[in-house]
Amino acid sequence: MNITQADMTNTIQTSKSFVIKISIVAALGGLLFGYDTAVIAGAIGFLKIKFDLSATLVGWAASSAIWGCVLGAMGAGYISDRIGRKRGLIITAVFFAVSAIGSAMANDLTTFILARFLGGLGVGAASMLSPLYIAEVSPAEKRGRLVTLYQLAIVIGIILIYFINLRIAQSGDETWNIETGWRLMLGSEVIPAMVFLLLLFFVPESPRWLVKQNADERAHYILEKVNGKLAANQILEEIKIALMQESGSIKSLFATQLRKAMVVGVTLALFSQITGINAIIYYAPEIFKSIGFGAESAFSQTVIIGIVNMLFTFVALWLIDKTGRKPLLLWGISGMIVCLLGAGLCFYFSIDKGPWLLIFILGFIASFASSLGPIPWVMMSEIFPTKTRGIAMSFATLILWLGVLAVTQLTPMLMEGIGGAYTFWLFMINAIILLVFTWRKIPETKNRSLEEIEKIWQS
Ligand code: GLC
Repeated sequence: MNITQADMTNTIQTSKSFVIKISIVAALGGLLFGYDTAVIAGAIGFLKIKFDLSATLVGWAASSAIWGCVLGAMGAGYISDRIGRKRGLIITAVFFAVSAIGSAMANDLTTFILARFLGGLGVGAASMLSPLYIAEVSPAEKRGRLVTLYQLAIVIGIILIYFINLRIAQSGDETWNIETGWRLMLGSEVIPAMVFLLLLFFVPESPRWLVKQNADERAHYILEKVNGKLAANQILEEIKIALMQESGSIKSLFATQLRKAMVVGVTLALFSQITGINAIIYYAPEIFKSIGFGAESAFSQTVIIGIVNMLFTFVALWLIDKTGRKPLLLWGISGMIVCLLGAGLCFYFSIDKGPWLLIFILGFIASFASSLGPIPWVMMSEIFPTKTRGIAMSFATLILWLGVLAVTQLTPMLMEGIGGAYTFWLFMINAIILLVFTWRKIPETKNRSLEEIEKIWQS
């Protein structure tokens, strides 16, 4: 075969932009994740008045989506192993759209809760399918970056709806917001949901899932588009050999050496949550107010948190495939520990109104965004074998959502019960445990193909 230099350059260029484009489409699942989990913060106050809700019912209205996330994450692995990653993602997009319309049009609390629950199913399912899909289409040396696009999309989704909520709330008076404002907030999600749905029809199925279905020719076509002609044959061979060696039973994930992968996945998933990120993302205004900031500055600080979260995700994007996952995690978690210690001290000594609490919280967000934000998603999508990747990632993601649920339910109680200082120090202890675990147990996976990573656990 005669391959000219021009041919090669051409192949490499088209493959580069192709994989970036399809990864961005899949990452939109993350945008909807961020959008959907954050939209409720702006709507809940008006909803409470509209339906005259007690504190318990407000809790249900706000948390119904997260319960959906838990179940969505649980089912998505099995379903996507059977019907494919792409079809799985399409179903999530339909859920997002129906939930947006349903919750916006709800005239009673039950309909509202059901609609939000449906959206939660979408978020939970997309939260594992988007990174998994990206990992399965990506070339090894860019996989970390491309999956990090998904985390970037989550953070952008959070900021986006934050501003949309604010604009809607400002465009009418209180009565208008109680009748219409919250409906527009929730309904606005139908736009990104439809964009996601339409674009999904243009992405190909995951080549690794296709090989598992014996659709080698289609898989080869996609591998060639992504990796170029020369590498495609070899990658296809490696996928096939790896698949032959995998047992594929769920038991194998817990009984064999793969248990090590399971422990790494589940620990990262759980500790990414119980080190406190969403206590800050969801409750920032309350936290700032409790130490003496006015409502106005509490609001602008929340915006700053969103922006720092986004900017530092770019640091991860830049470094994850260069320095690798492990060094980033070690540095990031260390930064989180220092900042959690500092934030706790601010509460302990009641250092109010000064910039210190803000500095520590922003330091915490920056450390998290550049490490523990994206890396659990990246590693959960790459450490399991192809035959059981769906189920295994589902399980780890389910644990992650249980962590979200625990932190969102317990943080207000902890802040009130043991106070801000000990709440932050509790998160700090978890971060210290994670630091030791990362140092001792987490292998480096940068630049290795998914098939090479499978071999790590055997050694
Ligand atoms: C990560 C976490 C998620 C959090 C987000 C905020 O994706 O898993 O729970 O809300 O980062 O940046």
